[in-house]
Amino acid sequence: EGLLPFEHAPYFNFAAPDVAQAQRDAFAQVRRMYVGHTFPLLIGGQEAQGSGTFAVGNPGDTRESVWHFQNATPAQLEEAVQHAAQAFEEWRFSDPLQRASIFMRAAELLRARRMEFNAVMGLENGKNWAEADGEIAECVDHFEVFARETLKWAQGKPVYPMPSEHVTTTYEALGVVAVISPWNFPAAIPLGMALGALAAGNTVLWKPASETPLSSYLMIELLFQAGLPRAAIQFLTGTDDVLGDPLVDHKHVRMIAFTGSREIGCRIYERAAKVQPGQKWLKRVMAEMGGKDATVVCADADLDAAALGIAQAAFGYAGQKCSACSRAVVEDSVYDEVLSKVVAHAQAIRAGLPEDNGEIGPVIHEGSARRILEYVEAGKTSARLMTGGERVPGMHGAYLQPTIFADVDSRDPLFQEEIFGPVLTFTRASDWRHALELANDSDYGLTGSFYSRDAFKVSEARRLFHVGNLYINRKCTGAMSGTHAFGGYGMSGTNAKVGGPDYLFWFLQTKTVAQRY
Ligand code: NAD
Ligand code: ALA
Repeated sequence: EGLLPFEHAPYFNFAAPDVAQAQRDAFAQVRRMYVGHTFPLLIGGQEAQGSGTFAVGNPGDTRESVWHFQNATPAQLEEAVQHAAQAFEEWRFSDPLQRASIFMRAAELLRARRMEFNAVMGLENGKNWAEADGEIAECVDHFEVFARETLKWAQGKPVYPMPSEHVTTTYEALGVVAVISPWNFPAAIPLGMALGALAAGNTVLWKPASETPLSSYLMIELLFQAGLPRAAIQFLTGTDDVLGDPLVDHKHVRMIAFTGSREIGCRIYERAAKVQPGQKWLKRVMAEMGGKDATVVCADADLDAAALGIAQAAFGYAGQKCSACSRAVVEDSVYDEVLSKVVAHAQAIRAGLPEDNGEIGPVIHEGSARRILEYVEAGKTSARLMTGGERVPGMHGAYLQPTIFADVDSRDPLFQEEIFGPVLTFTRASDWRHALELANDSDYGLTGSFYSRDAFKVSEARRLFHVGNLYINRKCTGAMSGTHAFGGYGMSGTNAKVGGPDYLFWFLQTKTVAQRY
């Protein structure tokens, strides 16, 4: 297809002093360029003001608000949907090669600005350098992957032949896609959903989480700079009462691509099922939701590797990943050893400002901290607290200690409910089969890790571990676009598998044409 072979974007080596200095300089530059600024809505290719603005806070230091965004009005939602519907009539017929070229150009542009995007993320959602860098590198990968996927799906698929007819199976765009995203991956998640929609020839109404809108805004401007027609994306920020249910319910929205909580995902799924007066289709819903991800450690495993993988997946970005390891399930004979190794890792983690590359930063806001601490307080009576369980003193933000509970019963809410913070449970399994049963004892099924050197146990885990992303002898976070198609089972959502070979199918409808001569 004329594209160079694919390679994942390499991460920066922040241990090198010049690289670290460049990242520090990027924070200073971002502060000069963006802090204190107010950003517009983007409707019909024009910048627009809303009914007022809201402040975006720095979770690393809650005394600071970093930038401001608009509250869109109901009339602006209506306008944006109309523009998206009009723009669809052109964009749906755009040349796939043009779409792929825009994405490749965007990859180039982003490569040159990675540290700037890292810094924006550090200031609005509290990721440290490596976490932000992993996400922005994933965005570069997304551009490269979706360029290739655009060309792949433009070709249609072969059919079984019939002598009397010439028959083709091709794929066509759907219409206006509402992209609704969470704050925890504020660049890669909305970008993945938006690229899926755009690659397939749909237009996008992009609604970021209010905690993290600048990561989205800058990515959209970068896409425009790469040649995307401005009408192809409408960018709306504001309150959920204007941009939640009314957007989902709108009769001209053809599809909702959502990533976020189980509660909102289920709400969207249900609401979108209702056919509104004048609506001419059944809405399609992609709803990627939460996780309660387990790591199973068998007695024969490399216990040091397992302990490190558990600690990294549990406490990276303060456990605020759908993919985070929140449950360790360990075979009885090695339980105490693995537990003490993970506790040692947890106790070595130092809290610090994301901007200064602190190992563990804050949780997103005070409301989240209070909710997490309610689970922790309940856990102090139902299980054995091994480490953590408190706020980190002396910080201006919602910094929580890495927390580990041992001997957690599988019926305990600590074991069953998504806590979305730096809280890890340990549960003892009588043997490795029991460990797999415990891991599967969940409504969710997003990621899982299985540590063993035994080929038979591994093959059983491959067969029985009920998750969309299973990792053997490695941590359960860090899926790479194009390689680890990402999406879960059960109440983790619709299993859309972003970055995978079938993702674009979600944004397409299939046309069969049978022609006789
Ligand atoms: P959330 O569900 O609270 O919010 C997500 C988005 O939905 C936001 O943009 C929000 O404004 C919007 N929203 C709120 N009410 C709405 C409504 N009624 N209709 C339509 N949209 C509405 O989630 P969050 O707190 O931002 O993110 C954390 C959650 O996301 C966790 O549960 C996490 O596991 C999940 N998540 C899942 C994945 C995945 O790929 N499965 C990835 C990242 C995060
Ligand atoms: N895609 C992210 C990960 O795999 C959520 O950690």
